[in-house]
Amino acid sequence: MPISDSAIPAVTRRLSPLQDLWPFLRPYRGRIALAFALLCLGSATILLVPLAFRDLIDFGFGQRQNTGVGLLGALSLNGHFAALFGLASMWALTVAARYYTVTWVGERVTADLRSAVYARVLAQSPQFFETLQTGEVLSRLTGDTTLIQTVIGSSVSMGLRSLFQFVGGMVMLAVTSFYLFSLNLGLMAVLMLPLFAIGRKVKKLSRESQDKIADASALAGEILNAIPTVQAYTQEQQETKRFAGRAEASFVTAIRRTRVRSVMTALTITAVMGAIIFVLWIGANQVHTGSMTGGQLASFVLYAVLVAGSVGTMAEVWGDVMRAAGATERLLELLHAQPAIADAAAPQALPQPRQAAIRFEQVTFRYPARPQTAALDNITLDIAPGESVALVGPSGAGKTTLFQLLLRFYDVTDGRILLNGQDIRQLSLHDLRGRIAIVPQDPVIFSANALENIRYGRPAASDDEVMAAAKAALVEEFINRLPEGYQTFLGERGTRLSGGQRQRIAAARAILKNAPLLLLDEATSSLDAESEILVQEGLNAAMQGRTTLIIAHRLATVQKAHRIVVLEHGRIVETGTPADLRKQGGLYARLARLQFDVG
Ligand SMILES: Nc1ncnc2c1ncn2[C@@H]1O[C@H](COP(=O)(O)OP(=O)(O)O)[C@@H](O)[C@H]1O
Ligand SMILES: [Mg+2]
Repeated sequence: MPISDSAIPAVTRRLSPLQDLWPFLRPYRGRIALAFALLCLGSATILLVPLAFRDLIDFGFGQRQNTGVGLLGALSLNGHFAALFGLASMWALTVAARYYTVTWVGERVTADLRSAVYARVLAQSPQFFETLQTGEVLSRLTGDTTLIQTVIGSSVSMGLRSLFQFVGGMVMLAVTSFYLFSLNLGLMAVLMLPLFAIGRKVKKLSRESQDKIADASALAGEILNAIPTVQAYTQEQQETKRFAGRAEASFVTAIRRTRVRSVMTALTITAVMGAIIFVLWIGANQVHTGSMTGGQLASFVLYAVLVAGSVGTMAEVWGDVMRAAGATERLLELLHAQPAIADAAAPQALPQPRQAAIRFEQVTFRYPARPQTAALDNITLDIAPGESVALVGPSGAGKTTLFQLLLRFYDVTDGRILLNGQDIRQLSLHDLRGRIAIVPQDPVIFSANALENIRYGRPAASDDEVMAAAKAALVEEFINRLPEGYQTFLGERGTRLSGGQRQRIAAARAILKNAPLLLLDEATSSLDAESEILVQEGLNAAMQGRTTLIIAHRLATVQKAHRIVVLEHGRIVETGTPADLRKQGGLYARLARLQFDVG
């Protein structure tokens, strides 16, 4: 996956990524066409305003005989004002309607895009998240889509409006007075060139200052998530200084940008006003000699103002469009990312829904991030339906990895895994994972109440079923002491629970799921010995008739397992009943001696 790791929308030189937005725009092409029509109408209206002014001055004041050559030549003074107001109202209406339509399309497309990207991200396998940080995904989902929204929802229409005004205004300037027009054009060209150079500089500096702000917030994000560690190591001052340093850096860049920008503003105003005053001066002389009317001069100046304004807008919009092109490119990377693990093209059905026979057949596995070492090395293991097998061995032996492979978070490098005789790669992920209930090593609690957290195991379960599962996993025992019982909010990531309580919630969730294959990954490791036995009993009841794989460090927990498999360095070194293994005097016997015979 070619995922760039910068969190800042890149400024690309290419606009082509924007084409890929078309599938998202197409459903709303009717509204887009309507917005375009409103845009044309609005631009035409605003281009008529200076003409109405010309006629107002030249004819409305009655300085010239009403010859009927003007736009509204035949009107009275009041009529001219009425016409002006009519134009203004028309303009207001089209602007409002266009604003609504365009913003609607922008918001709609952004919402669609966000959902599409999110759905895609959720389909990715764990490998994807090893390389791409969640913070990065979030920044793309919010920051990048917001940029695109700005462009679709306002910039493009502003840009088009300015383009129309620019072209129309230029034509009208030339028509009104070709002499003044060419004079002005020359003047503008001379004045604008240095402004473009400064504008470039401003753009560069504003990107820099955005980078600096992103740096500061990335740091803050990391530190806020680690507050207890920061405080335990009394690093608050150090961290405050580190953040202040980054905040200072962004201040300095922002001020540099502002300085350049201030100069640019002064120059722009001087240039534009200077040009207008100069043209007015020449024009006034022309009016004096009678080669131009006062109204013509007035309309010329108004067109000049329109044109100048539209040039400014177009420059701004261009920057936005370029940034949006960069943002789109990054979003589309996410949108087109192929999950490393996907359903088979034609997944096989999985019969025998209520039982699970597992076979690992010469399974070798290397993590994609660490291809040189085999996390599992030629594992062959058969587990009969209803059997409970304990996996023991030192930390890093590959126990959790076996579970990851069963859930198909990764695919085996060699060999195959069979569920009820079928290669799990030939099943649909939904079917496969639907058969497995897992209590992971590090259970996840959602920021919801206890009831909803347990119900996550089977969303359709009734309150009674949830509570039965809670009882079996000894959740009830502590839930009843919480202020609002099952309705108690458990805090973000379950911060308001102890490790052992989190494990019990996770156990209840797995019991509720009621799947034929139960995977327990040190599911009771954070409990005291007494609670462990009790939760284990609850799980045992749930395990009745189910195939169960138990990873445990405390060997006391696995004495009831039918069989024990001892793993070391990704290989199976011993298998047998607890009693057999003790007699064999191998790794298991050594571990057992350490745990049971002390004292
Ligand atoms: N995502 C990963 N990428 C690379 N290596 C990993 C990853 N997860 C685990 N490992 C490595 O694989 C080996 C087995 O890990 P694991 O199955 O978690 O061990 P345990 O038996 O303690 O559960 C360890 O050496 C570990 O460092
Ligand atoms: Mg583990």
